[in-house]
Amino acid sequence: MKIGVVTSGGDAPGMNAAIRAVVRYAISSGVDVVGVERGYNGLTTNQIRPLSLRSVGGIIHLGGTVLKSVRCPELRTPEGLEKAGTTLRKNELDGLIVIGGDGSFRGGLALQTAIGIPVIGIPATIDNDVAGTDETIGFDTAVNTALQAIDKIRDTAQSHDRVFVVEVMGRERGFLAVAVGLTAGAGIILIPEIEFTLDSVCRKLTLYDEWGKTTTIIVAAEGIGDTYRVVEHIRTRTRFEVRHTILGHVQRGGSPTARSRLIASLFGTRAIELFLDGAQSKMVGLKGNTIISEDLEYVCRVRKRIDRKMYKLAGELAV
Ligand code: F6P
Repeated sequence: MKIGVVTSGGDAPGMNAAIRAVVRYAISSGVDVVGVERGYNGLTTNQIRPLSLRSVGGIIHLGGTVLKSVRCPELRTPEGLEKAGTTLRKNELDGLIVIGGDGSFRGGLALQTAIGIPVIGIPATIDNDVAGTDETIGFDTAVNTALQAIDKIRDTAQSHDRVFVVEVMGRERGFLAVAVGLTAGAGIILIPEIEFTLDSVCRKLTLYDEWGKTTTIIVAAEGIGDTYRVVEHIRTRTRFEVRHTILGHVQRGGSPTARSRLIASLFGTRAIELFLDGAQSKMVGLKGNTIISEDLEYVCRVRKRIDRKMYKLAGELAV
């Protein structure tokens, strides 16, 4: 038997650890593995290379993905799917392991429907916005990266009694912002899932000031839109000195944390077990402390919910 492994969509720290686990567990189970390069582009253009036990050595600690990744709109077309099918047949692949987010899984499902190849998903995105799993590969690393940056920002914020608006990634969702906000001790967290007004932000800052809080960190998810308008509003409507930082792609890179590597290793191994059991259209995931599997169809259909209790707690602890 032979399977392909592909990393697709935005890269996430820990993808390499997942590739390593997939390759090593598959080979030790008697399954050959090839790597599909540059996301689904590798399928539409036949960029395939064999992966061996040794070829995935020395990558567990590396951020990014050694297979490279791109977003591939062509796979959404019948022509793109046909080209991918040709590559899958030419390379005699019996299954495909897709490491990525829900957009990548939609591509995987389309492939399975069009070509009939079994697809197993491994959730990996710093956004943690994939239904069916408590956590995605890379999320913990991104939270820690943002946290380290904000701890540094806090030093200078405290020295100058300033307010800082720090924009974090997350696409149109606020999972990263809530986790970063709570752990960084942010006074205010702004996410797309919870309504707010700019005036209410100013009122809260004034209240904090009355309580004797001289510094406030506002963690704002990129999904709320232009975060600079928050800065401008505070600057024009209050007397607080305010600065703006966009953390940006720094959150996507860096060596994966122990947790991201652990999840990646467990997910990769379970994905191969599922393949060997004959599973199709499944995603591996984490529920509590247990590695589970979920239907890809469910993962692609359902919108993961924000933990409102955690959001509320962050506010309560910000007094
Ligand atoms: O999905 C991961 C992510 O980093 C999002 O948080 C962000 O909105 C997006 O990718 C950025 O994408 P790109 O690297 O293509 O600009």
